[in-house]
Amino acid sequence: MSKEPILRSADWFGRRDKLGFVHRSWMKAEGFSHSVFQGRPVVGICNSWSELTNCNAHLRQVADAVKRGVWAAGGFPLEFPTISLGEPFMRPSTMMFRNLMSMDVEECIRANPLDAVVLLCGCDKTTPAQLMGAASADLPAIMCTGGPMLKGMWQQREIGSGSDVWHFWDELRAGRISEEEFQEIESCMSRSHGHCMTMGTASTMTSLAEALGMTLPGCASIPAPDSRRLVMAEMTGARAVEMARAGPRPSQILTRQAFENAIRVNAAIGGSTNAIIHLVAIAGRLGMELPLGLFDDLARSTPFLANVRPSGKYLMEDFYYAGGLPAVMREVLPLLHAGSLTVNGRTVGDNYRDAACYNRDVIRPAAEPLAKEGGTVVLYGSLAPHGAVLKPTAASPQLMQHTGRAVVFEDHDDLKERVDDPHLDIDADCVMVLKHGGPKGAPGMPEWGNLPIPAKLLKQGVEDMVRISDARMSGTSYGTVVLHISPEAAVGGPLAIVENGDRIELDVPNRRLNLLISEEEKQRRLARWEPPVRHYDRGYGRLFLDHILQAHEGCDFDFLRAYPGGEQLRGSPRSWKRRAQDKLPSPF
Ligand code: FES
Repeated sequence: MSKEPILRSADWFGRRDKLGFVHRSWMKAEGFSHSVFQGRPVVGICNSWSELTNCNAHLRQVADAVKRGVWAAGGFPLEFPTISLGEPFMRPSTMMFRNLMSMDVEECIRANPLDAVVLLCGCDKTTPAQLMGAASADLPAIMCTGGPMLKGMWQQREIGSGSDVWHFWDELRAGRISEEEFQEIESCMSRSHGHCMTMGTASTMTSLAEALGMTLPGCASIPAPDSRRLVMAEMTGARAVEMARAGPRPSQILTRQAFENAIRVNAAIGGSTNAIIHLVAIAGRLGMELPLGLFDDLARSTPFLANVRPSGKYLMEDFYYAGGLPAVMREVLPLLHAGSLTVNGRTVGDNYRDAACYNRDVIRPAAEPLAKEGGTVVLYGSLAPHGAVLKPTAASPQLMQHTGRAVVFEDHDDLKERVDDPHLDIDADCVMVLKHGGPKGAPGMPEWGNLPIPAKLLKQGVEDMVRISDARMSGTSYGTVVLHISPEAAVGGPLAIVENGDRIELDVPNRRLNLLISEEEKQRRLARWEPPVRHYDRGYGRLFLDHILQAHEGCDFDFLRAYPGGEQLRGSPRSWKRRAQDKLPSPF
């Protein structure tokens, strides 16, 4: 008997019957010779390329490099598109469509004659969406991220994606720069291919894809225009061919230990608050619960090492030259599960034990961290019974314990209308409150949580205030911002009943977020609360509103969680069951 495993694609291309004729013949329409059907593993290249997703606009070139690697290793590459999610453009929010993209990825992988898949992503939501879809499909999968942009430059000054948009927007509103200068900065910021080059959500999620073990080591930090990005893509394609025959599958990589590694790495790099939602959602696809408390527990014993904006000084290009993610992984290796398997077939310990660091100001040693605790803290209390999050490394130390008067904005339109009103009754000690920015309320949980400081306070020199909401914020943002309050206002969470003038207590050291009203007053307000009008009654919007879970549950759809994984050949459930009864051999 042959020792070669039976390839999944053989059920399409290896048949001697009419169906085999059909599958091969129609594929030959693309100009492939008969030799490609002679037992070569079929490697799908799942491409989120789109001109509407500028961060992923170079992925066709990356896909060509992956194909080189697949052909050279004896595979048969087939590139396919899925929907793509361009962070700057999509309304109401790309988060509204992350689950839709994950379904597209999952079903395209499962429905087609693939033995393994290479996932190409970059922009914020494309990375978690592909990981969620690939985890649910559970065919051997390896990710190659698109890489960060080169750093922006304006008047000899290095400027970073997102973070400097918020900074210069405040400077403009305060009258400290002109409109002409603001326009000039616009052209100087995004000057190459790639995703945002701060440690925003994109750099965070691509780093965590590597920390989870789903990319080759060193993949996340290589700048997009660097030729080594294409070398990485070629190597990824070659490795995918090996994985097609011998695995591992995502369910063998994405273990509880792998998620704990990713949570610690997120703390060490000062990663985006959005990472919590995405990691919870990816784990949910494998039937794993990641309670918010786990993020807080692991962050408390993980040093913050990456001196990269918005929590630090440098940009992703500097981070790469300093050693990139491997250098961070090496520093925190004693805290990681070093035995966790990665897609190259080696363990985390094997991959990162010898990683070098070339600049200790960019990547600090674990013994001399930027802060003893990294990551995102999780707050609970009468205002957030199921939790809320705050990123202390991007917040103001003097506001970590603060009680203030609530200034309430009922929704985002209300905020836009009134925040710069010179008559707004607000001072620097107030707590700004935004309602209806959550998964159902906005809908789609947009990145509205970094509420702008009112113009009149900016002109007084106020740079930060406590701001709270059920929304998310961009990973490139900074400030004392409490996010992801759960349950959200739109489902009757306590945020819904906050009124102007209420006292709100934020106590980060003790992880508390409280609305300081009496129990009687709380019950009186809850009794008269009414749910807001639904935004959609048809189409995807309706599906979203009917099935979206809350922030602490990862905002996945309830019916997508905990798919048990495993092979599902095309055809009806009956034919699938029959194959299982026939005990057809599995290559794994
Ligand atoms: Fe795509 Fe920032 S807009 S990563």
